[in-house]
Amino acid sequence: MKILIINGPNLNILGSREVDVYGEKSFEGYLPILKNLFTDLSIEYFQSNWEGEIIDKLHDADKNYSGVVLNAAAYTHTSVAIADAVKAISIPVVEVHISNILQREDFRHKSLISPNCIGSIMGFGLYSYRLGVESLRIVKEN
Ligand code: DQA
Repeated sequence: MKILIINGPNLNILGSREVDVYGEKSFEGYLPILKNLFTDLSIEYFQSNWEGEIIDKLHDADKNYSGVVLNAAAYTHTSVAIADAVKAISIPVVEVHISNILQREDFRHKSLISPNCIGSIMGFGLYSYRLGVESLRIVKEN
């Protein structure tokens, strides 16, 4: 089973960005740990700060992966286009967030993407990605 993790804007600077909210580990530092937890799965990773690139990757994922773990970052709250792309593809997409967006500023409380995802995981730090991958496995096995 092939799973794609997509990270949106500013997640390339995890580890140095707002460490009180997002922690001190980079995603590149966490990815090998995550892969080691799921040696039976193939996990690939894509990050972009560009909305259109994320949309292209979602389209591409439909043919090439069993599911997507998506942290659209700030686009979560603004991007009708990414929400539409998630709706347009047929593979399951799990929304993840490192922080609990419902505990933060009001503008982060609304996710345009969640209605089109099979579920949402938030607030567990980088472990949110682990839960995201696990949830896709459960969905695919049942
Ligand atoms: C985030 C939450 C978003 O509100 C924010 O814009 C991010 C990261 C998270 O993982 O907690 O960049 O998606």
